Order: sequence, then C-alpha cells, then structure tokens
Amino acid sequence: MSSESSNLPMREIPGGYGLPFIGAIKDRLDYFYNQGPEKFFQSRAQKYKSTVFRSNMPPGPFIASNPKVIVLLDAKSFPILFDVTKVEKRNVFTGTFMPSTKLTGGYRVLSYLDPSEARHTQLKTFLFFLLKSRSSYVIPEFHSTYTALFESLEKGIAEEGKAGFGNANDQAGFNFLCRMLYGTNPPETSLGTDGPSIIQKWLLFQIAPIKALGLPKFLEDPTIHTFPLPPFLIKKDYKRLYDFFYKSTGFALDEAVSLGIPREEACHNLLFTTCFNSFGGIKIFFPTIVKWVASAGVELQARLVEEIRSAVKSNGGKVTIAAVEKMSLMKSVIYEALRIEPPVPLQYAKAKTDLVIESHENAFKVKKGEMLFGYQPFATKDPKIFENPDKFVPDRFVGEGEKLLQYVLWSNGPETEGPTLANKQCAGKDLVVLFSRLLVVELFLRYDSFQVQIGHSALGASVTFTSLKKATS
Ligand code: HEM
Repeated sequence: MSSESSNLPMREIPGGYGLPFIGAIKDRLDYFYNQGPEKFFQSRAQKYKSTVFRSNMPPGPFIASNPKVIVLLDAKSFPILFDVTKVEKRNVFTGTFMPSTKLTGGYRVLSYLDPSEARHTQLKTFLFFLLKSRSSYVIPEFHSTYTALFESLEKGIAEEGKAGFGNANDQAGFNFLCRMLYGTNPPETSLGTDGPSIIQKWLLFQIAPIKALGLPKFLEDPTIHTFPLPPFLIKKDYKRLYDFFYKSTGFALDEAVSLGIPREEACHNLLFTTCFNSFGGIKIFFPTIVKWVASAGVELQARLVEEIRSAVKSNGGKVTIAAVEKMSLMKSVIYEALRIEPPVPLQYAKAKTDLVIESHENAFKVKKGEMLFGYQPFATKDPKIFENPDKFVPDRFVGEGEKLLQYVLWSNGPETEGPTLANKQCAGKDLVVLFSRLLVVELFLRYDSFQVQIGHSALGASVTFTSLKKATS
C-alpha cells in the first residue's frame, strides 16, 4: 500500500531507462521478442532484487512520447493503481499511449476518463442503469446463444473429429451481448454475422502497438509498434458497427440523453463497452476458462458435474442466480482462472502527488507525474499471498479460501469490492463473473466431460474441442 511515510527500509527505485530512444527500443524488443513479458519482468525483478523497479514499456517511439514507468510486481504495491485519490487514470487505459479518438467517433470514451471528470460519472451511471435494467436477460440469453454454440461444436466433432472454440465463441459471445443488453439478434439485422470480424480489425487498430502478433519481428516492430495504423482504413467498417448500435440501442440512448449525454456520444460509448470491454473480455477469458478446467483433469470435471447438476436439480431444474450461488467449487474455479491468468494483465496510473509505495520488503519514493504500471499476473501469483501460486487449484477459494478473494484483482480492484462512480473498477464486474459461471454451468449440464487441444493466439489461448461426452445423468 502507500502513504506519505513508511516503517519499511527506504530504497531508491532500482532499474532505469537506458539511453533516450535506444533504451526504449531495446526494452520493447526484449518485451515482445527476446524474452516475452513473463521473462522480461522476472529477469529484471531478479537482477534488481526488487518487485518494484524502473523500466520502459512498449510501445515507446514514435507512438508514445514517454515510455518510462515504475513497474509493480507484488500484491502489496499493486493496489496503489486502484486508489484514485492518489493516482490519475486519465487516458491510460491502453498504457503509455492513447489510440486516436478517430477510432471512437471523435470521443474519449469512458475507459479513458478519470473519475474526476464529470462525464465519467454520467457515463458510468448510464451503464449501471443499462446493466440493471437488462439483468433478467442474462441467464436466458446466455442459455440460448451458447446452446447454439454447443450444437455447432458437436456437429464439427461429428464431421471432422474436432471443433475450434475461438470463432464459434466470438460469434456466440457477440450475439449473447447484443441480445442480452439491447434485445437485438445481430444475424437478423444487416450486420449479419460480420460483427466479430469487424470488431477484431477495429481492436487491432487500437492495441497493435502493445501486442506481438506472431509476425517476424523485423516486419512487425518497425511497423505496428512504431507507427499507429491509420484510422481511415477502418472508418467504413466502424460506421457499419455504429449504425447497427444506433438502430439497436434506442431505448438506452433515450435514457442517456435524459442523463445529459448527447445521443451520438452515448452510442459510441455503448459500442466501445460492448465490443472492446465485453466482447474483448469474452474472447480472451472464455478460452482461458476452458483451458484451465480441461488441464485440471477428469476428476475436476466429475466434481463439477456433481455439484452443478445437484444444485440445479434441487432448484426445480432451473438455472437461477440462487442456484449458481450454491455451487462453491464452480465459483472458485472461475476465481482461480481470473487469478492465475487475469484477462487484462496490464494496468497503468499516474501519481497525482509525491507518494511512498511499499513492496513487501521496501518503501520507495515516487514523484508526482510518474507513471505506475502493474503486471497483474505477478501480483495475483505473489508467493507471499498464495500457496503454490503457479498451480491451478480449483477449490482455492472455497470456505476459508474466500478470505483470499481480496487478492483477486482482474476487475481493476479487489474481488471483495465493487465498481462505483468514484472508482475505475470494471463496470461489468458482476456480469462478467455471472456469465463466466454460466459457461461452466451450461458445459456440465450438457456434458459429462470434454477434451481439448490447446494452442496460442495473439489474444489468449486457442482451444479446439476433440471430444464432448453428452450427459448421461
Ligand atoms: C472478461 C470480461 C472483462 C474484463 C476482463 C474486464 C476488465 C476490465 C478492467 C481491467 C478494467 C479497468 C481498466 C483500467 O482502467 O486499467 C475495466 C474497466 C471497465 N469495464 Fe470491464 N472487463 C470485462 C467486461 C466488461 C463488461 C461486460 C462491461 C460492461 C458491460 C465492462 C465495462 C467496463 C467499463 C465501462 C470500464 C471502465 C470503468 C470506469 O471508467 O470507471 N467490462 N474492465
């Protein structure tokens, strides 16, 4: 944590930035290619014997004017990033650079706003209204969209012996979100089934500077990590998405206007929240869930089958929030996946004043205006907090284990706290936890067990189902 003083030994923040320009490029090449993120942070933490140190973060030149950050890699220093009385979250959603607002209709959308900005309060109020007014649609719309997904996977396995989860999940996820949030089924509109592919292109324009796409480095680095992709190339596609949202979200836009938000600005925000925050989240996190559940073996699958089916049975055969709440192993499995592989691993914030930050061992002085950066997987796998931190322990958060939920940080805040108008915690936190639980519930109501092959993709795991054994009880 942090304050103005500390009882721990003071230490100068170790590390550094190297020569201007060259240092930033060297760190960028290490981060993406020579080492990869995990080794990049681990090797520096070892070298400096500290979980807090200075480094550059990508992209650096010529996209970010200042790549210098203070890296936080433990569960004690990390939460300073959530304390908006001490840090500013203005324009830091993607890190040391901000994508052109031409990609979001000319607006700085909610994710880039600091809570001190009046528009942050208005837009978050608007989203809370939307989420509340549509909450009763989550369970039924999830069931119907993911039933269609499972049917298509079964067909794929019957015909070809295997079925990829990625594209099917993108389609199901987008349809689920639009049906649940707006009552619109995209395939029945002029957008058809093009939503996910357009969104992925649009996402690429925003996050290419901070991703390795798997192309050779001599091609990738001097291009997408050095210059932003020109927004005009995606303008037509974006307009198609925007028109779809404008037509689908009328009832919500009326409410936005009554809250003082212009209709167009509200619509660009709904597009962003649905396509970047929510679709992006489902795209990354659902394969992660399947991967970890599969990797834990058949015994876990059998225990989940037993727990989920008996809770639903004793609830009159219905999946409800109350029935889901009783599934303590399943709930722990989701928290454990969020802990071991947080879907959004990078968080940034700027010191608002001079600060003292504490790791487990030391206290460090930070100057006003310095950029703080946390690599979340190190905070949520901090060996001082979690036993066997690198192991997926399905029942880690059952019973007494619930006390550890304060250290689960995927939502840009502790799992024991919730989003408010005054903080930057994920507005969709409860929805995310619910739809993630529903994925596992639907899987084990329908199947006794499943098998997958795991590969890598630019955004998370690539999962292919090779077997889906239909429920026998
Ligand atoms: C797996 C899915 C999701 C993940 C992993 C996720 C993660 C996050 C994270 C880490 C942040 C903070 C980013 C930062 O400022 O550093 C955030 C913010 C936000 N998320 Fe989510 N999110 C997910 C889904 C959703 C959904 C479903 C919604 C809404 C329907 C949503 C709406 C938002 C909004 C509006 C913010 C900005 C909050 C603010 O400005 O106060 N997210 N999310």
